[in-house]
Amino acid sequence: MATQSQASSALLLSLLLLSVAATSLAAGKGGIAVYWGQSGKEGTLKQTCATGKYAYVNLAFLNKFGNGQKPELNLAGHCNPATGGCVGLTEDIKYCQSKGIKVLLSIGGGIGTYTLKSAQDAKNVADYLWNNFLGGRSSTRPLGPAVLDGIDFDIERGSTLYYYELVRYLSVYSKPSKKVYLAAAPQCPFPDRYLGRALNSGLFDYVWIQFYNNAPCQYTPGNVSKLLSSWTKWTSSIQATKFFLGLPASPQAAGSGYIPTNVLIHQILPKIKASPKYGGVMLWNKYLDDKNGYSNTIKAYV
Ligand SMILES: *[C@@H]1O[C@H](CO)[C@@H](O)[C@H](O)[C@H]1NC(C)=O
Repeated sequence: MATQSQASSALLLSLLLLSVAATSLAAGKGGIAVYWGQSGKEGTLKQTCATGKYAYVNLAFLNKFGNGQKPELNLAGHCNPATGGCVGLTEDIKYCQSKGIKVLLSIGGGIGTYTLKSAQDAKNVADYLWNNFLGGRSSTRPLGPAVLDGIDFDIERGSTLYYYELVRYLSVYSKPSKKVYLAAAPQCPFPDRYLGRALNSGLFDYVWIQFYNNAPCQYTPGNVSKLLSSWTKWTSSIQATKFFLGLPASPQAAGSGYIPTNVLIHQILPKIKASPKYGGVMLWNKYLDDKNGYSNTIKAYV
């Protein structure tokens, strides 16, 4: 049984440890976010989280929603949501969360039929996401009862309208006792064509900008300054909790924008880590990260 003074020195010690932890976070130590779900050969979600390399996993993608369509998840070769084949992922999601890894559902992506037709359509999609992937209830939860940490917006087609409304409706579901994290993956030309207005809401926790497939704002061999000025533009123009450098995990992962690890480690990370809102690096995608060993090489420097 602890005495009063033992208890208060224990309290003092834990406060001290907390402030040490806060200081080392403030020093800019980041995490790696990865997209998982578009290759059956990238390992399971549980294996992905067990690597210890990732702090955030985006499940990719819910690529059909809006305009009254029945929403559909696409997880490639992993499982078939149409026949209830993905509900077993609930155990993997809980495993990831038990390790402190945030698991988000990514909506959108490069392929699919998604769009928003009106503010009411956005409200319907927000309610669907809440009931089927977050803290709500539905008899048809595609990933079972596990409650995801949030929603990632990777909007690259369809309507440019009503994403502000969708973000706002989702944010209403976020409570101090159980936050709904909101993330966005805009492409690097500023402002983003699809998410510009939504990003101006200041409601996003994580913004992982895709610094690829867009020569004017990404790394090109011999030129880091375009990427750095684009980073500065983004981080000084948008209110968000944390910003991430979104990169292809291998040369095959994007048409252009791949950054060799030595360039990233020595010429880019030291600069962007100076941003008070630096959060880390986002990688597209898990399968190609495995092939190339990118996160293994950079992890200690992120
Ligand atoms: C990098 O590219 C930008 C835009 O094309 C150009 O203005 C700048 O001079 C280049 N910097 C270097 C070091 O080549």
